[in-house]
Amino acid sequence: MDQNLISNVFNNKTTGVPIWFLRQSGRHIPEYFKIKNNEKNFIKFCLNEKLIVESTKLPLKYYDLDAAIIFSDILLIPWAMERNVKFMKDFGPSLDPMIPNETKIFKDISIIKKFEPIRNSITFLRKELPFSKSLIGFSGAPWTLACYMIEGKGSKDFINTRKALWGANKWFMELIETLTNFVTLKLEMQAKAGADVLMIFDSWSHMVPNNFFKDCSIHPIAKIVENLRSKKIFVPIIGFPFKAGSSIVDYSYESQVDCIALDWSVDLNWAKNNINKEIVIQGNLDPASLIPYESHYLSKNVLSILDIMNDRRFIFNVGHGLTPDCKINNVKKVISIVRDYGR
Ligand code: CP3
Repeated sequence: MDQNLISNVFNNKTTGVPIWFLRQSGRHIPEYFKIKNNEKNFIKFCLNEKLIVESTKLPLKYYDLDAAIIFSDILLIPWAMERNVKFMKDFGPSLDPMIPNETKIFKDISIIKKFEPIRNSITFLRKELPFSKSLIGFSGAPWTLACYMIEGKGSKDFINTRKALWGANKWFMELIETLTNFVTLKLEMQAKAGADVLMIFDSWSHMVPNNFFKDCSIHPIAKIVENLRSKKIFVPIIGFPFKAGSSIVDYSYESQVDCIALDWSVDLNWAKNNINKEIVIQGNLDPASLIPYESHYLSKNVLSILDIMNDRRFIFNVGHGLTPDCKINNVKKVISIVRDYGR
């Protein structure tokens, strides 16, 4: 039977560097638009079993990858919390913004029932995918979800979120705690349905003021990991503290995750020497390097990442999601370099 390279890395077996890509499904693959045409409402798309299964499998049709990531979105938790989540063309997500101190925080944990189609799709996919392919379930981190819920949209500085953190701290931390519970439940559901790796996206962790980093990022993640372990869920957990700078050192020791995903700004030599040596590293190719039709830097950079990480447990990936204009041939080229490395 073919090996599962991702599970081997987590089990300390050296059988080659595994590879998958953040946001590997979606708009850079032309066929995605055919699938998307079946359902214009993105939330309904993310709750349609047939479309979830097709979109999750799509990148594996094009590429020799070691994992599929369930097609879904981090904003399904705010949607289930009745924040009126919409995805608007050329605008991105829009939500009803939360008003600090005024709005009662929604805590009804039965919302997890709304994720039934995700559960069913994971169960179906785990049976259908070969053993060699990991199936990754995911969630947004509490801080990143709070950012979208307070701001009501994406933002360059999440000023309202940070204002709420300073001005309505008790309320803010209550929101973080509630989200910590929802994230635990959603990840638990995905692992029980068959996801064999879990990932927590903290895409806006660079917005956390440094003195609040432990309270808002590291401790909630550690609580989620602890909650899952106490529920006897032992699948590997990948944390992604995007652009969190030197705070990733504390994150690597204290968040309890099994793997840290690094963004493209991190110096890998520095990371190797400073972050927790017990955990796996994932990353950190710049997704923009996959956009030009031709770049001789691409192969050089992929090889340099592989060389630096040669003596570490490592999963090759991009340092943030693939962009809609990335080129399929570049993705294929990177995969072939990683596959040939060390042979
Ligand atoms: O291959 C995959 O990873 C697909 C599954 C996936 C999606 N979103 C589908 C999606 C995953 C893992 C996500 C995570 C996600 N969603 C994050 C964390 C990762 C990151 O990029 O930082 C965040 C912050 C979101 C929130 C979100 N969803 C935004 C800001 C947007 C609009 C802008 C954008 O990046 O596309 C979305 C929409 C979305 N989620 C699309 C897809 C395929 C695009 C929908 C479309 O226009 O077809």
